[in-house]
Amino acid sequence: MEALAPTSDDEGVSAPAFSLAPASWYYIGTVAELQRSPRRLDLPDGQQFVAFRERDRPAAVLSGRCSHMAADLSKGCVKDGRIVCPLHGWEYGRDGKCAHIPALSEIPPFARQVAFPVEERGGLVFFFNRPEARFPLPFFEGRDDTELLAAPAFEFTVDAPWYLLSGNGFDVQHFRCAHDRSLVSDVTIDSPHAFAWRLRAKFRVTGNSWRDRMIRWLSGSEMEMTVENWGGNLVLVTSRFPRTCSYGLVSFVPLDKNRTWVRNIVWIPRRQNALARRWLDPLDAMIRRYFIREFVRADVNSSEGLRYHPKRMTSADKELADYLHWLQNIPR
Ligand code: FES
Ligand SMILES: [Fe+2]
Repeated sequence: MEALAPTSDDEGVSAPAFSLAPASWYYIGTVAELQRSPRRLDLPDGQQFVAFRERDRPAAVLSGRCSHMAADLSKGCVKDGRIVCPLHGWEYGRDGKCAHIPALSEIPPFARQVAFPVEERGGLVFFFNRPEARFPLPFFEGRDDTELLAAPAFEFTVDAPWYLLSGNGFDVQHFRCAHDRSLVSDVTIDSPHAFAWRLRAKFRVTGNSWRDRMIRWLSGSEMEMTVENWGGNLVLVTSRFPRTCSYGLVSFVPLDKNRTWVRNIVWIPRRQNALARRWLDPLDAMIRRYFIREFVRADVNSSEGLRYHPKRMTSADKELADYLHWLQNIPR
């Protein structure tokens, strides 16, 4: 896969190369969105994907340009488990094989799309951007997706490279300045899997905004936070307060070397009672989504235009520098 060429910082020192788009799982849309119409996702390494789903079949993700003359398959329709090219009607199954060509009785051997690994979690669809997944789609430790409810995603486009944004949780210093959270424990860093990097630390909510006062009142004033980064672009954040626990999943989609689409999904634990599951859970999910969106907005506002200068990292940036070092060395 194509990688960003090594760059130079202002001191003329070579900076490490990062992939234009890391080999990992990407969030592509909800089951409901895919059932309405095929969805397209482009990555800056030149790959284009199309995702589709029918009500009674699991989702599929294929290479997005038709093997015939490269028409955009996301503009086609879906019927009988196949995506139909909008230009000449070639039909591709979920495995990428062409199953029907309206104007030919024989199917040429080149007539096939690449099929990518796909997983559905709690009504959301993820795919791996290589023909074989390098690691299973991760989820929150000790949780099953049937126990959690996902709020609708909120999204930002940020002028900053994906690897710096996905390292935000390892930028320990920024919690005080950007979020009014002060560190009250040691920071534990480990790598629970060859493709995962994790931080655990305890923070106190110190801000005076009405939101922070509400958080202290409703949830408690300290929280244990776990940030788990998989493959560089998929981040799972668990914030454990004395009275609540919030879950956030962030999918970082590179748009080009310095712009990133940040897709955030907040999850809440589902209640046992059927009535509460129907009425309270969606409300709870939207309230927590609001609070977490405002929390993330602070990151977005302070990260616009961010650039990486390896020689300007200081000892206070150690956790972030260690993350970036790990990230450069995972298989592409
Ligand atoms: S370009 Fe898709 S069928 Fe011709
Ligand atoms: Fe942050």
